[in-house]
Amino acid sequence: MAIRNIREIGDPVLNKKCKEVKEMNARTRELINDMFETMYEADGVGLAAPQVGILKRITVIDVTGEDPLLLINPVVLETSGEQTAYEGCLSVPGKSGIVTRANYVKVRAYDENMEVFETEGTELLARAILHEVEHLDGRLYVERVEGDLVNTADLLEEE
Ligand code: NI
Repeated sequence: MAIRNIREIGDPVLNKKCKEVKEMNARTRELINDMFETMYEADGVGLAAPQVGILKRITVIDVTGEDPLLLINPVVLETSGEQTAYEGCLSVPGKSGIVTRANYVKVRAYDENMEVFETEGTELLARAILHEVEHLDGRLYVERVEGDLVNTADLLEEE
């Protein structure tokens, strides 16, 4: 496993549409392992393949540090409710912005064995899933921010 370089806003790879994964192979397994390692090392709760420069529909999420979730070719099936909170992204280091998203999401995806499954989440998990799925279509949360981006360090001071 290896830590991969996280691409930052302004890098055109972050604005490209990713391709579906057709089959699992050693190279893709290695990418997935590296993505988890890179996300944990950066203290993130989610990471999408384009953030490490790979245009594949793969994202890893873990909002508690103990619930790793791999979504390959994820499709949002259902959303409901609404939540408004500060959100950040490893590709926009040091910044946060207020984003309103659905409070519940149901998603269909493939696992590491390319077996289809469905999962659902609320609150932070729903936010993370929706944020990561958008990365796969070349979209960053900054386009959804209400108001200005702020320095995350300033938010931490206020708490
Ligand atoms: Ni992100």
